[in-house]
Amino acid sequence: MIPRVTVDKILDAALVEEVVGEFITLKKRGTNLLGLCPFHGEKTPSFTVSAVKGIYKCFGCGKAGNSVNFIMDHLQLSYPEALKWLARKYNIEVIEKEITPEEREQQTERESMLIVMQYAQRYFTETMMNTDEGKSIGLGYFKERELRDDIIAKFQLGYSLEERNAFTKAAVKSSYAPKYLAKTGMSIVSNRYVEGKELAEADLFDRYAGRVMFPIQDDGGRVVAFGGRTLSTDKKTAKYINSPETEIYNKSKILYGLWLGKKAIQNNDACYLVEGYMDVIAMHQAGIENVVASSGTSLTVDQIKSIHRFTRNIIVLYDGDEAGQKASNRAIPLLLEEGMNVRLLQFPNNDDPDSYSRKVTIQEFQDYIKNSTDDFLYFKAKKLKTETANDPIKRAGVIKDIVENIAVIPDNIIRSIYIKECANIMEIEESILQLEVNKIRRKGSKSSSSQSQRPSGQQTGTQNQSTSEEGAFDPASLDDTSFMEAAPESELYGFDAEEEKLLCLLIKYGNMLITTQAEDEVNMEHELEITLGEFIIFELWRDEIVYENPLYKMVLDEYIEQLKQQNLPNIEHFLRSPNPIVSSFIINHVIDKYEISPKWKNFGVLVPKEIDNAKRDAQRSLFSFKSRKLSHFIHEKQMELKTISYEDSLKVLEELKHLDSLKGRVNKLLGREVIK
Ligand code: UTP
Ligand code: MN
Repeated sequence: MIPRVTVDKILDAALVEEVVGEFITLKKRGTNLLGLCPFHGEKTPSFTVSAVKGIYKCFGCGKAGNSVNFIMDHLQLSYPEALKWLARKYNIEVIEKEITPEEREQQTERESMLIVMQYAQRYFTETMMNTDEGKSIGLGYFKERELRDDIIAKFQLGYSLEERNAFTKAAVKSSYAPKYLAKTGMSIVSNRYVEGKELAEADLFDRYAGRVMFPIQDDGGRVVAFGGRTLSTDKKTAKYINSPETEIYNKSKILYGLWLGKKAIQNNDACYLVEGYMDVIAMHQAGIENVVASSGTSLTVDQIKSIHRFTRNIIVLYDGDEAGQKASNRAIPLLLEEGMNVRLLQFPNNDDPDSYSRKVTIQEFQDYIKNSTDDFLYFKAKKLKTETANDPIKRAGVIKDIVENIAVIPDNIIRSIYIKECANIMEIEESILQLEVNKIRRKGSKSSSSQSQRPSGQQTGTQNQSTSEEGAFDPASLDDTSFMEAAPESELYGFDAEEEKLLCLLIKYGNMLITTQAEDEVNMEHELEITLGEFIIFELWRDEIVYENPLYKMVLDEYIEQLKQQNLPNIEHFLRSPNPIVSSFIINHVIDKYEISPKWKNFGVLVPKEIDNAKRDAQRSLFSFKSRKLSHFIHEKQMELKTISYEDSLKVLEELKHLDSLKGRVNKLLGREVIK
């Protein structure tokens, strides 16, 4: 448990724009900030952050919350773990008791796996720095590759001993469960293991024995996987072994270097894309930190989206060799299609960033990087022109190639600029190029699967909600927090409108003092000053009205609980609720859509000052709620009458008469209120 004062300290420090800003680049738009939603794939921003209110909301997919909810959702953490993550970010000390066995039990599967990975990273670094084998072989290898000590430390590099189960043994000795060693892929289950038996140390051996270790972090800085490089030159051994896909390592989403590079990517509004672990590290050593590599896969659309959240500008630095060319031929169309601005940089003599950086000085390296990039499409157009200068037939063929690249660019304006410039470079008619591009785009839009061909400005509002934007929704990733949008709000409950209205009044104006009439024991009327919240709760309680909508009931119960503890709960309190259902209710229902929606600003909608009318509003809502409830009861009784015996019906008729007169009274009151 984290003490309440610490929780408050964390919540006060964790400004939503700063926290969200760590994961996406936000631009000012009116009083709010706007960026690309990290929760659903999108190319035009609809993710809104209100710094004043301390909340975010995506108008595309509906995700909403405060800074803690964001971390819970984005990094898939439980509430306490999200708080701890924020505490680390803001250097707030969290004094926690040693974890008891019961608490360890309660840790989620994911959390247990993350803890194993953190242990493994420390173990491998420790092994490299403090054992003879580690120092001579592991550290020796990195030294040979001319890595500085600060860089070795920054990338948390390590070494895994040659003994085939050294890591597994050490981990089990430190009481990490064999189950999680296997689940994270750090240890491999021997094929002698008999299914059904509890996994033991003897069933496991190390995945990475005898390799230097590159920890792979997610964009929250947590180690989720490793790449292990062999030191042998034997062609038959795989050069790198990477962690398998696991619950915490989604290969197609993780980018190597993003965690360490995202600040620089934001500051430079550009990102270098390289092929390998060593390339990322070499760039950092040369002072260039805005760099990422796809780890263990070829570049995926999801990885591109992760970069896009920070910048539109990408510079591809793939090897000049055949493999590198192939990789860039695959990657570049995807980048263009995602709306990225693609530049290209090639090193002389088939060097990669790592090998080239070791041939020149840091200054020369930086200058080369800065001055040798070329816009990808212009580069290609130039190349095509020179290569086919004397061969018109060949030329016609290759024009098709560049046309295909241009056609996938989603933005109309950017596309037409490219058409113009490339036509210029290749010395062909602009209209011909335009025609060819149009042909491809028409073909593309006919095939229904090709969503990316649709013009950008079209993505608005709820349209995206159910469409499956590439990789936006992954049912396997569902965890506790995902019920934020799966909450049963959409189901129809009889009294939804009334229940919601009263709840909104409670939360917004519950602390307002009102005067009301009350009778004492001797039937004397007194003026009584109470809060609007107490008034509403009392009225509901007096008539035994119980909320039916489970979501609203949850929020109401939380309100009553707070009142019982002598607290005056306000919007702030509910926004800070550890229960994401509660905080998302507040954002979606209580805070006026007008106040946060960027769209409404232009309409000059005047929101009446609700607070003036709060008391009357509450009374009216209560009366009409009660009136509808009474109608409902009356209807039920009437139905009952049809099925019961004559004797029984007398009693029911009596009840009906009573309900009817009650309803008459309530309606009279309601009428008075409405007229007043
Ligand atoms: P490279 O073969 O270019 O390796 O593969 P590298 O990064 O230049 O490594 P060094 O300089 O030889 O040490 C590029 C990337 O492809 C992945 C790794 O992520 C590597 O960094 N890869 C390569 C593998 O996953 N497995 C392999 O067997 C080889
Ligand atoms: Mn290399």
